[in-house]
Amino acid sequence: MDGDGEIVIFLTGETVGQLKPCGCAADQLGGFEKRKTVLDTVDSERRLVVDTGHLVDGRSEQDILKYETIVHALFMLGYDAVNLDASDVEIARNSFGLANMPFAIISGSDESGEVKRSYTKILKMNGTVLPVTVGSIRSDQVTAGEVEKLFSLEGDIPGLNILLVDSCDDAVLETIAQAVDVVDVVVCPFGSDEAEIVAELPDAPLVISAGRLGKYVGKLRVKLLEGKLEFAYEKIAIDGTLKPDEELVQLYSTYQQTLKDDNYLAKVSKVPLPGGLKYAGSDKCHGCHEYNNEKWSNLKHAHAYQTLVDVTSQYDPECIKCHVVGFGYESGFSDENSSKGLRNVGCETCHGPRSQHIEDALNDDISTKKAEPVAVVSCIECHTSEHSPDYQTDVRGYWGKIVHWKEPKQNSPVK
Ligand code: HEC
Ligand code: HEC
Ligand code: HEC
Ligand code: HEC
Repeated sequence: MDGDGEIVIFLTGETVGQLKPCGCAADQLGGFEKRKTVLDTVDSERRLVVDTGHLVDGRSEQDILKYETIVHALFMLGYDAVNLDASDVEIARNSFGLANMPFAIISGSDESGEVKRSYTKILKMNGTVLPVTVGSIRSDQVTAGEVEKLFSLEGDIPGLNILLVDSCDDAVLETIAQAVDVVDVVVCPFGSDEAEIVAELPDAPLVISAGRLGKYVGKLRVKLLEGKLEFAYEKIAIDGTLKPDEELVQLYSTYQQTLKDDNYLAKVSKVPLPGGLKYAGSDKCHGCHEYNNEKWSNLKHAHAYQTLVDVTSQYDPECIKCHVVGFGYESGFSDENSSKGLRNVGCETCHGPRSQHIEDALNDDISTKKAEPVAVVSCIECHTSEHSPDYQTDVRGYWGKIVHWKEPKQNSPVK
């Protein structure tokens, strides 16, 4: 446990639906189940745990399910207060009901007045009490007067006032600085995944960000020295060294189970392919392309579906889309009952739907190629910086590993 002489404000924000890192690359940060270890280093009476909001990024059924899962997770983690943006408020209103949220909620974006704009918790430090108030305001409503209103506490015990605002713009921060007597700390979104200090100037509030996607937890340590508040802000990486909490691991399993039981794969709309084309499946290619098939079968692409099965994520639309053939198209992969040839990063993932090609080949008409697209998908659609950080720095190496052709190709980075 940290020292008695200080209190700690833990900050997170912009979860945008990230319950857990996907596991596509090594050393990815984040995951609710590991966050608990960090928060539990400080006793409840000496800590305030706040999320700045933007819990999910959309309104699909899966987003709503994630929202509910995130709310449960934040409750299990012992969050004191969660700031809701306009969309968060709307979803809470339609699912849990605002009155049933299992922690204090605040919002600067709720026009209805149902959600309070500030929250106060009394913390203890060195035997004395310190009220900590978190207020929320929308950047387009920031005026010195509005800010002061948020912190007009009854009683005159000096406290710590933290203002959450949805923009780090200079103009916004300057206006807030005019209310410097009431605001000690400003938390605004800085666009970076890391929790960090945005500005630290004399005679102005400390400006910090909470980071994104749950990769870090911001830890603001507060000391009272001769009647003055002293701050130190650091980011704590949610990495593999932290012990996962069993109950939160279970919560994620329940989420996965719901994706399966309620068949979320089927909820994703499927569109027809242009030109009447259809996916045939990788198993339809080997008769004529034995060499290519043989080579491909030994690559990791050929096991991408099993990879998801190993982590019970084969029912998750958000994972499936990069680990199979043609998800989202009528003839592409749809669920575990689909033809096995549509599993994995198969031939047609890169070479495009080949129904017409096979027909042409069978009719000995291969040279015409009709409206057939050739290599339609590029590597970076899946090998993104998030899912494959090494790809960007080693394009040649990655291409070298997928060689399944006999003749070196003109446009290939691999000769
Ligand atoms: C944007 C496309 C994309 C999405 C979405 C995606 N993956 Fe991946 N995944 C990849 C790529 C690309 C790799 C290979 C990364 C590399 O080796 O550079 C990979 C690799 C993996 C691996 C490691 C395989 C190994 O051989 O070590 C796991 C596990 C995995 N993904 C699980 C998931 C899960 C679970 C989800 C959903 C939560 C998911 N993926 C969503 C593209 C994706
Ligand atoms: C009935 C035989 C046959 C089948 C089945 C077949 N192909 Fe082909 N394919 C050919 C022939 C013939 C050519 C042209 C000669 C060559 O390059 O080998 C060809 C060429 C290709 C090429 C290189 C030229 C181009 O069009 O891009 C690709 C890629 C290809 N086929 C992919 C596939 C895939 C993927 C499948 C399975 C969905 C498949 N083929 C199924 C006979 C076939
Ligand atoms: C539809 C998404 C998708 C596309 C497109 C894609 N990949 Fe992949 N790739 C994956 C996934 C998923 C994996 C992880 C497979 C596994 O291990 O389960 C992977 C793994 C790999 C690996 C294995 C990495 C390792 O650790 O050994 C290489 C190499 C690779 N891809 C190269 C490429 C290249 C080159 C291209 C483009 C020509 C490409 N990929 C296009 C999804 C994709
Ligand atoms: C990750 C993407 C990807 C996957 C999956 C993939 N290919 Fe390819 N394939 C390519 C690329 C890219 C080339 C061209 C390489 C170049 O331009 O140097 C190619 C070349 C080919 C060729 C050209 C003919 C040759 O041998 O020279 C054939 C045929 C072919 N692939 C068939 C297949 C078949 C069959 C499968 C499945 C068993 C498959 N490919 C899976 C990306 C892929």
